[in-house]
Amino acid sequence: MSERTLVLIKPDGVERGLTGEILRRVEQKGYRVAELKKVAATQVQLAEHYAEHEGKPFYQPLVDFMLSGPIVAAVVEGDGVISGFRSLCGVSDPTAAAPGTIRGDLGRDWGEKVQKNLVHGSDSAESAAREIRIWFG
Ligand code: RTP
Ligand code: MG
Repeated sequence: MSERTLVLIKPDGVERGLTGEILRRVEQKGYRVAELKKVAATQVQLAEHYAEHEGKPFYQPLVDFMLSGPIVAAVVEGDGVISGFRSLCGVSDPTAAAPGTIRGDLGRDWGEKVQKNLVHGSDSAESAAREIRIWFG
């Protein structure tokens, strides 16, 4: 089976009507959307998903942001998709993210305590397995 990653379209992406545009970029790259659903994240899911960031100054603003509206969760499949999707996203800070990337083309700084940067992508095979379990069981 080819590699799988967990993609989240965060509340800002859904709210701004960018779900289709983001999935279009994933599919145009040649990756396959294997699972897809729109959900309201729970506190429990977010505590697990962002456990590595607990205690950091942006942790609570990040959790509040992720609870602020629906998200779209997807399992995306293809050889090299874990690092490939991170490349499609660009770096975390949307001001610094390169043009041509999702965050660089579609994101910006909104002057808030947390970076609203449209998407999440797993950063390793271990994270992908763990995160797919959190969002898809
Ligand atoms: P992600 O996990 O969402 O794919 O993004 P990432 O790996 O690029 O970023 P990470 O360091 O894991 O941080 C998780 C999310 O927290 C928010 N953040 N805001 N100083 C800030 O304003 C700040 N730092 C982190 C972002 O939404 C980031 O994606
Ligand atoms: Mg991360």
